[in-house]
Amino acid sequence: MLAVIDSELQLSMILARKARELEVYSQVVPHNVTKEQLSALEPEGIVISGSPDPLVCPDVSDLIERGILDLGIPVVCVNCKAPGVPSIHYVPGSYEWEQAFSEFLFSVCSCRKDWTVQGFIERSIKEIKSLIGDGRAISGLSGGVDSSVASRLVQEAIGDRLTCIFVDTGLLRKGEPDDVRRIFGEGFKMNLKMVDASERFLTALKGITDPEEKRKIIGGEFINVFQDEAAKLRDEAGFLVQGTLYSDVLESQAHAGTGGSRVKSHHNVGGLPETVQFELVEPLRYLFKDEVRAIGRELGIPHHILDRHPFPGPGFGVRIVGEINEESLEIAREANAIVEEEIRRAGLYNELWQAFAVVLDIRSVGVSSGMRTYERPVVVRVVTGHDGMTCDWGKLPYEVMEKISSRITHEVKGVNRVVYDITPKPPGTIEWE
Ligand code: XMP
Repeated sequence: MLAVIDSELQLSMILARKARELEVYSQVVPHNVTKEQLSALEPEGIVISGSPDPLVCPDVSDLIERGILDLGIPVVCVNCKAPGVPSIHYVPGSYEWEQAFSEFLFSVCSCRKDWTVQGFIERSIKEIKSLIGDGRAISGLSGGVDSSVASRLVQEAIGDRLTCIFVDTGLLRKGEPDDVRRIFGEGFKMNLKMVDASERFLTALKGITDPEEKRKIIGGEFINVFQDEAAKLRDEAGFLVQGTLYSDVLESQAHAGTGGSRVKSHHNVGGLPETVQFELVEPLRYLFKDEVRAIGRELGIPHHILDRHPFPGPGFGVRIVGEINEESLEIAREANAIVEEEIRRAGLYNELWQAFAVVLDIRSVGVSSGMRTYERPVVVRVVTGHDGMTCDWGKLPYEVMEKISSRITHEVKGVNRVVYDITPKPPGTIEWE
């Protein structure tokens, strides 16, 4: 096991992931970790990740408890300096750097190679079993990567004592509820509760055009629906499964805890009231996204779910400008499906961060079979990037754009024009609302 003492979060995450790629379990710990906390993790090696700027951090040993360097565990600094501690210079993508890092792990620390997908699944199932005992759990299954993998893992551990709740907001992609029912209900034989709340969402959104108000309504309704369902099961189920990832933990809490179980944390879930208290089960809490995908593959989750582009929580709620109603939703579902289909057909899906259609609430003049039309435009938004924080607009081949445009104007009722968004982020955001 490798402990990464963090004074530069981005670099710490890179180092932790690199170690895991080399099958060594790694954990990021805060720079103010105590000697006792660190020893409790029983690391075979310690890496101090720090800023390469000597003005920011002239001597990284000032940041950490001195005794840590005297524990007798091999230590190395990456990009930072500490007297008497060897250092490796991190150069992204360099063979020499990777060699030096790997030599530290295996020749200096003799780290065990025990971080494998199969090993993780076995350990995780054991931990979940011991946490839940003969109790029951519920899980909000959205059909996205994280909730799907977390739910499958827990199902492996406790079988049909897990109930998955799928809320159909009506704002989801074409065929999504059926896909979830087919894959998780029929395929994996999960105890799946499908809640069709689309009418409830449409009613709450009637006449609303302000983007922030829409988001608030969608978020609030989602909690209400989930809370109603969770409350019905509360007497039997004491545990709630969440697909929290390691990057969420590191970013939101600044630092992960240095001890404790790998699947458990005790606190209530944002949005659920005191009366609906659950103990959280977070089996992905120490995993990075690519590891979650690998585990999902091992658990048999189809790759179109694991490799799917991010889809925002409020769904088409942030992709329809103006009022959300049956008409605009039908256009969003059909146009988005065409964009996804054509991008997949062109073999470009995995190269793009996101690709979707946005429905506008203006109308423009067109002509069809010699007749004047006055219908909506659809915006095609395609972006490249790695994290959604910044992005560039995707330079699709003209033939792909042409196919998308032609199919949308011919197949989607109420649309007579397709435009292409050529704005990077910043200044544009990825979603339109
Ligand atoms: P923006 O539009 O802010 O999006 O450039 C950045 C990334 O975040 C996704 N996104 C959301 N995801 N709930 C989500 O779960 C939201 O309300 C939300 N808004 C944006 C967006 O799809 C992109 O990947």
